Amino acid sequence: MKAIAVIKVGSSNNFDEINIPVPELESDEVLVSTMFAGVNPVDSQIREGAMFEKYKWDLPLVLGWEISGIITKLGSQVTEFSVGDEIIAKPDRSYNSLKGSYAQFVAVKTNQVALKPEELPFALGAAIPLAGQTALESLNKLNLKSGQSVIIRGAGGGVGVFAMQIAKNILNLKVIGAGSTLTKQYLDSINIKYDDFIVENNSEYVGKVDGILDPFGSIEFDSKYIKKSGKVVTLKQVVPVIDNLPFFIEHHVLKSSGSQLKELIDYYTSGNIYIPIDSIYPLTKLGVQHAHEKIDTHHTHGKIIIEVS
Ligand SMILES: NC(=O)c1ccc[n+]([C@@H]2O[C@H](COP(=O)([O-])OP(=O)(O)OC[C@H]3O[C@@H](n4cnc5c(N)ncnc54)[C@H](OP(=O)(O)O)[C@@H]3O)[C@@H](O)[C@H]2O)c1
Repeated sequence: MKAIAVIKVGSSNNFDEINIPVPELESDEVLVSTMFAGVNPVDSQIREGAMFEKYKWDLPLVLGWEISGIITKLGSQVTEFSVGDEIIAKPDRSYNSLKGSYAQFVAVKTNQVALKPEELPFALGAAIPLAGQTALESLNKLNLKSGQSVIIRGAGGGVGVFAMQIAKNILNLKVIGAGSTLTKQYLDSINIKYDDFIVENNSEYVGKVDGILDPFGSIEFDSKYIKKSGKVVTLKQVVPVIDNLPFFIEHHVLKSSGSQLKELIDYYTSGNIYIPIDSIYPLTKLGVQHAHEKIDTHHTHGKIIIEVS
């Protein structure tokens, strides 16, 4: 099968097309013919060398943690899915260099799969597994009650657009987005609702916000706005870990599950979340290179997707 792999750690020029065997299935896995794959900043961080020590990856390395597609084969113990099912999934590519999503076929554990309803296009489905679940889990970790306030930084990014909508439409929080003027305009243009927006500064909220979802871990920003009893969830390990902060800060790493994928699909089909796509690229050496050049700008809006077939 065709896959696009990192052949040398470093820049977005270092991808190449490789031909590798279709993955063998473990007993609790399904084989998916990939339709679309999501691209995330973590892919680019890995391309540049992150996490190699932890996961013992070799080169070539197939990236990607998000897919939509059709099940073509079942592992020996699988009973809950059938060949022909249309699904979205989060492949677990830890410790396996060739199990990523930028490939024609991907093997996925059934506990990381959810059935895709017809109303959810394959392209949008591939945007959910990593970014959508991270938004959902991070907000759950903040554990805010209806009516409490939350700041969401990176409000127009892959995680941010999901978080803004879950916070407002599902959790009924007072949602304050944070980002650039362009991001604010973008959210308005796609009709994402929020209560307020911080571009640079807003003295009204200093020391008053109940929770902050800060993907980028800026202690300076967080300590300015969070109230004393408040909580910050960051997606970046804040280094060095700062002791004695007057508020609670927790680093979150995505856990992921099929039931959470289903929950997010339900939010989509009930009209509570809109899934914005920044751009779609083909599964070619140049297509993946361009997708990575785009994610490397750090100013994309919505999700970047690769069309596989
Ligand atoms: N720990 C985990 O499990 C986990 C899971 C998912 C994501 N993440 C991390 O969370 C971050 C966000 O992910 P994403 O998918 O939302 O990324 P993304 O789609 O690339 O986010 C882009 C948006 O974030 C804003 N942004 C980018 N860099 C920023 C910075 N340094 N400070 C403030 N705002 C910044 C930009 O806003 P403006 O254009 O408005 O400035 C842009 O709209 C990434 O660093 C990613 O690696 C971690």
